[in-house]
Order: sequence, then C-alpha cells, then structure tokens
Amino acid sequence: MVHRILLAFGAVGLAALVALFGMACGAAAPTPTKAPTGATPAPGAAVPAPYKGKTNPLAVTDQAAVSAGKKIYDASCTSCHGEKGDGKGLVGASLKPPPADFTSAASQQALDKEQDRLLWRVSEGKEGTAMPAFKSQLKENEIWQVLTYIKSLTKK
Ligand code: HEC
Repeated sequence: MVHRILLAFGAVGLAALVALFGMACGAAAPTPTKAPTGATPAPGAAVPAPYKGKTNPLAVTDQAAVSAGKKIYDASCTSCHGEKGDGKGLVGASLKPPPADFTSAASQQALDKEQDRLLWRVSEGKEGTAMPAFKSQLKENEIWQVLTYIKSLTKK
C-alpha cells in the first residue's frame, strides 16, 4: 500500500519534471512563481468598524465586572462553551466546528491581544459556525463583562 502511494507520487513528480523541462525549452525563461507567504491572514486583520481597535476597559481584578460577567456567561454561554470555558458544554459537544476553548493558548492570547476581534464575534456571531450574535441582547459593556469573566475563569 505504502509503496503504491510512493509510486503514485513518483509518477506525479516525473510528470512535473517533464512539464518543467518543456517550459525551459520554450522561448521565454519561466518566471519563478513566488511561494505563497502567510496563507492565512492575521486573525485580527478583518475586524470591521465599529469594533476595530477597541480594548476591554475592565480589569480582570474588577470583581463587580467579573460577577456581572458570570451571570451573563451562565445564562448565555455555558451551554456551548462549558462551565470551565473549555468548549465542552452540553450543546457544544455536538457542534462542528466546536465552540472556542477559552483555555487554549490561542484564546488566552486573543483575550489579551485581540479584544476587538472577540467583541466583534460576540456582537455579530461567527459565520460558518454556531456562534450566535448577541448584540441585540447584550450592550457593549456587558460583552466586556462576559469577556472579563471568561478571562478570570480560564487564565492559567
Ligand atoms: C450555540 C452555541 C454557542 C453559544 C450559546 C455561544 N457560543 Fe461562542 N462560539 C460557538 C462556536 C461554535 C464558536 C466558533 C469556534 C470556531 O471559531 O471554531 C464560538 C466562538 C466564540 C468566540 C471566539 C471567536 C473567535 O473567532 O475567536 C468567542 C469569544 C465566543 N464564542 C464567546 C461567546 C460568548 C461570550 C457567549 C455567550 C454570551 C457565547 N460565545 C455563546 C458557539 C457558541
């Protein structure tokens, strides 16, 4: 089986060589094609107005904010993102893609450095996923409260 696969790759490689040879024999020298750099754009790149550049005004040490955020989280987020913020809520388990795991390194970094992107996602939802839009239910300050709670819940 493995040998067959290797053979198949060998054949493709040979075909590519032949094609290259053909090009080299053409009139113009083949222009080198640039290798794609950074295939995926930086995650923060697409954040639209009015969210772009905003940062969480609430400190993770702000107990009032954290407890207000917990109320919102328990009511609206636990079912998917899980009590511990690890994405293992009751509903979350069956979703594809699964809910964000806030304990992951990427999420931890986003909670610090991509706050505008998270504000945007909680406000508008995330296309192609089950993440709902909350802007009709939550004010911007309430979204910051819940993001502050998530940070307090999951920081390592
Ligand atoms: C119906 C399930 C569901 C509920 C309820 C839900 N989420 Fe999500 N959430 C998701 C899914 C699915 C994703 C997408 C994960 C991915 O991008 O792969 C997600 C992503 C996110 C992200 C990450 C966005 C990103 O691009 O990094 C944040 C932040 C978030 N949710 C916050 C919340 C908050 C806060 C609440 C409650 C107010 C909430 N979610 C409620 C399912 C849910």
